[in-house]
Amino acid sequence: MRLEQAINFDDLRRMAKRHLPKVAFDFIEGGVEDEGGLVRNVTAFERRCLVPRYFVDASKPEMATTLFGKTYSQPFGIAPTGAISTFRRGGDLMLARAAHSAELPFVISGASTATMEDIAAAAPGHAWLQIYVAKDRRIADDMMTRAKATGISTIVITVDTPGPNKRERNLRNGFQAIRTLRPTWKVRFEALRHPRWLYEYATGPGLTASNWEKYAKAAGMANALDFVSSQLPTPVSWADIEHFRKIWNGTLVVKGVMHPDDARAAAERGVDGVIVSNHGGRQLDRSPAPFDVLPHIAEAVGDKATVMFDSGIRRGADIVAALAAGAKFCFVGRWTLYGVAAAAEPGAHHAVNMIRDEITKTMTQIGAPSVAALDRTWLHEDMKAASGP
Ligand code: FNR
Repeated sequence: MRLEQAINFDDLRRMAKRHLPKVAFDFIEGGVEDEGGLVRNVTAFERRCLVPRYFVDASKPEMATTLFGKTYSQPFGIAPTGAISTFRRGGDLMLARAAHSAELPFVISGASTATMEDIAAAAPGHAWLQIYVAKDRRIADDMMTRAKATGISTIVITVDTPGPNKRERNLRNGFQAIRTLRPTWKVRFEALRHPRWLYEYATGPGLTASNWEKYAKAAGMANALDFVSSQLPTPVSWADIEHFRKIWNGTLVVKGVMHPDDARAAAERGVDGVIVSNHGGRQLDRSPAPFDVLPHIAEAVGDKATVMFDSGIRRGADIVAALAAGAKFCFVGRWTLYGVAAAAEPGAHHAVNMIRDEITKTMTQIGAPSVAALDRTWLHEDMKAASGP
């Protein structure tokens, strides 16, 4: 299949699957344990319909969204995803450039392959930095200092990785932790059947965590991934959040919030935004779908902080539904990742354009003249509640 023939998420996913060896594809695709959470993330959207309204002109919906004082062209951005060099050499920079040219935010992963400095330079004014808080708390502080020096104004603290998870696909493939890729022979032979991927992987940086090299060196460790494995995962506390709020005078976002009380408590501590997310179903298999908890969180937070959303978005209509359910903004993870894995930088642009097109068409179909106009009256369940039996 050629890129122009890919017309939806599934097409890009299939193209990526063909390009990648199983060990790499499974790393993107997979969830944890039985992968029930992964399925729920997607089916939650399928269960809740959008009710169209007619007699309005929504033929050119206004999609621009202002977030933390900056206007983006669309109500979505690209979520942080680590280990990108495993799927596409230079993938971080490709996604960052695609986000920048479409005027969308790009969130640099705490486990990015390229350095935050290089990525921020590829997407000036559009890069946010996600941080995995390390056991040595000074590392997060230093990352914030570096972020500030590169002009990054939004920090995202991921809180949904308090301990190890059980990703069974990775275990079967011999990919046990970020540090230890010890593929089985079967996996190695399978990889040989993907020569284009193999060439790129072999001539690229491989699996690295460039942002951490400085700290690994200071700790006397030659391999940054070994160092990362010794520092992560670790739980984030309210004291950490209060500390970050004190030292970071830019926008502070917490990612991975699933309970209304946590969201409210974050807002009360001066956090500017929360991302309702279950890490794309990659941490806790028994987690509810973020889409199902979103309305409760939006209600709890009110206008005390900005509520954003990710996990399970496979259609532009999912983004429209999340906005109607109370999110101000959404992020996609696998959608753009499959784009870049399938067809490098053109694939990243293609994914972004596809998402924009699907959102626009859905908005027109439901009679929503602007992103700002979307509210719960468009959701079928709420319509029934509002109009009685
Ligand atoms: C992720 N995600 C993630 N999140 C994060 O905070 N830091 C990270 O480094 C990563 N890395 C990562 C790698 C890969 C391969 C995937 C698929 C996901 C989670 C990501 O930011 C986002 O929450 C989910 O991907 C959203 O779900 P969908 O859109 O993939 O369903």
